[in-house]
Amino acid sequence: MATKTLGTTGIEVTSMGFGTWAWGDSLFWGYGKDYGESDLRLAFRAMIDQGITFIDTAEVYGLGESEELLGKFIKETSANVQIASKYMPLPWRFRKEDVADAVTASLKRLKLSSMDLYQVHFPAPSFLNQEGLMNALADEVEQGRIKTVGVSNYNAQQLREAHRLLARRGVPLAVNQMRYSLITREIETNGVMDAARELGVTILAYSPLAQGLLTGKYTATNLPTGARSLDKRFQAAGLRKLQPVFDKLDRLGTEYSKTPAQIALNWLICQPGVIPIPGVKTVAQVEQNAAALGWELSAADVAELSRA
Ligand SMILES: NC(=O)c1ccc[n+]([C@@H]2O[C@H](COP(=O)([O-])OP(=O)(O)OC[C@H]3O[C@@H](n4cnc5c(N)ncnc54)[C@H](OP(=O)(O)O)[C@@H]3O)[C@@H](O)[C@H]2O)c1
Repeated sequence: MATKTLGTTGIEVTSMGFGTWAWGDSLFWGYGKDYGESDLRLAFRAMIDQGITFIDTAEVYGLGESEELLGKFIKETSANVQIASKYMPLPWRFRKEDVADAVTASLKRLKLSSMDLYQVHFPAPSFLNQEGLMNALADEVEQGRIKTVGVSNYNAQQLREAHRLLARRGVPLAVNQMRYSLITREIETNGVMDAARELGVTILAYSPLAQGLLTGKYTATNLPTGARSLDKRFQAAGLRKLQPVFDKLDRLGTEYSKTPAQIALNWLICQPGVIPIPGVKTVAQVEQNAAALGWELSAADVAELSRA
């Protein structure tokens, strides 16, 4: 199984991880309606069978249910699973102890004594002290409850600041988890990708399939239900606008004998310093996405997709 290092931490993870926002989340994803715990248990086992053991979650996913489910499933396997969870810096969480309490609660739900990666979910509001937050995270690294620190949704300036504050404590900033896919490319032009490459910070690409759009399964006659139905990209006009991208994914899919989702994920895997974390709910999705690894698009096809 191909691996990549999280930033300059020396921690190796599989070159693709899996995301579990949908695990236990009924509000956005409809957990309990179209899929439930038994589907997710099978999906988890399929991840282990496929050798993909790097899994992203957060304390807020399903209000703790995502971590709870993972904790249950991890206990049922002897495989070494690497968990990345997240801390939400809510305005009233301004004490060092708030970080420690959140780590304790996540570890309890996950039934683990340590996490490989712990990320700040969103940049803290300005009245929260970034220095205090980074120091509290560095303390957790020193105690061994988290192996490494990451951030998420940080702009280039916030990323540089977090990197500097952690470096003072001798802790490298491992990742910035950002929305990044073939059709969501802001980080290439707003300085985030450049700053991450300069500082040796890995980009964990979230929503790498644009929440299912890039699988090509949503069409004007097969629109998603739930929260995604409010997203313009998932409506008939939005889908029409994206048709050239879908056509290119289809054509390359035929050429490489791969699905559009596998082409879209491989485009990310081909980017240096990027690890995609597609969300999955079923065994079929795990198996299909896992097969985005182990081969590479040609440089010319990567460039053609980038242009499309
Ligand atoms: N840091 C942050 O702020 C943040 C924000 C968002 C997400 N994330 C993380 O990133 C992960 C991934 O992002 P995401 O879940 O938003 O979007 P995504 O990975 O782009 O899309 C996931 C959804 O696409 C569909 N899908 C996945 N693989 C498929 C396949 N092979 N064939 C057909 N359909 C497939 C599934 O939904 P359907 O079957 O319902 O279509 C799945 O739930 C999350 O789980 C979470 O861990 C982080």
